Amino acid sequence: MWIWVQLAAGSGSRFGGKRPKQFHRLGRRPLLAYAIETFLKAAPGSPVVVALPLAHFAYGKALVTRLFPGASLHFVVGGTTRSASTEAALHYLRQVGWLSAENLIAFHDAARPLVSEALIQRVFAAAEASGAALPALPVSSSLRRVNGERSEALPREGIWEVQTPQAFRGSVLKAAWQRLSPTAAPHFTDEGTWIEAAGFSVQVVAGEPSNFKITHPIDWEVARAWLRRLR
Ligand code: CTP
Ligand code: MG
Repeated sequence: MWIWVQLAAGSGSRFGGKRPKQFHRLGRRPLLAYAIETFLKAAPGSPVVVALPLAHFAYGKALVTRLFPGASLHFVVGGTTRSASTEAALHYLRQVGWLSAENLIAFHDAARPLVSEALIQRVFAAAEASGAALPALPVSSSLRRVNGERSEALPREGIWEVQTPQAFRGSVLKAAWQRLSPTAAPHFTDEGTWIEAAGFSVQVVAGEPSNFKITHPIDWEVARAWLRRLR
C-alpha cells in the first residue's frame, strides 16, 4: 500500500498572513489541497495522513474532509518543528500498524503544491526498489561559504537541492526510528537526512523545477505563473 503524509503543521512565519500559508487559496483550492489531489490521482483510494497545527486543527480537518469526500483521510497534530511533525506522523503510523515492509510511505511539504503525478510515481518506484528515495535537482547558483568577514567560493559540481516527496519502506522507517529520532539533530531538516544518519542509504531521483517550495510571499506569484503554464 502507498501512504501519503502531508506535512501541513507549520506556522508560515516567513510567508505571513492571518492563517498559515497552507490554508491560503491558490486559485480555486487551498494550498494544502493540491498535492493531496495529485497523490489521489496517482494512487486512488490510498490513505493520506495530514499533519496540522494544533491552533488550526479543527479548521484544517474540516477543510480537507470537505474537499475529499470518501477519501481515506487521517489527521495528526504536528509539532513545533518540521521533524517533530514527522515524528507525530510516525507515532500515528505505528499505532495503526502501517510501519511494515509491505507499505511505502511518502512525506511531503504541503508548501510544494505543484508536485506532478510523474514525480510521485518515480519516487515511489525508487523506494520500492531501494527502500528509501528522494527527489533532487542540481543547484544552479554559484555558492560561497561566508563566515563573518571571510568567505570562500564552493564548487557547485555535484551539489543538489533536495525536494519532497521522500518515500520509504515502512520497515525502513521503523528500524531507523528505533535507532534515532527524526528530531535528534537540528540538521535533520528532511526525512532522507535522518534515514541516512540512521544508517540507510537513500536513492536520489530527478526532481522538478515546478516542485519548488512556497516560502516567501513572492513565491505565490511564481506558483500562479507555473499553474497557468501547467494546467
Ligand atoms: N511543517 C510542519 N510542521 C512544522 C513546520 C513545518 O508540518 N512544525 C511543514 C510546513 O507546513 C510546510 C513544510 O513543513 O508544508 C515546509 O516547511 P516551511 O516551508 O518552512 O513552512 P513553515 O515552517 O510553515 O514556514 P516558516 O518556516 O516560514 O515558518
Ligand atoms: Mg519552517
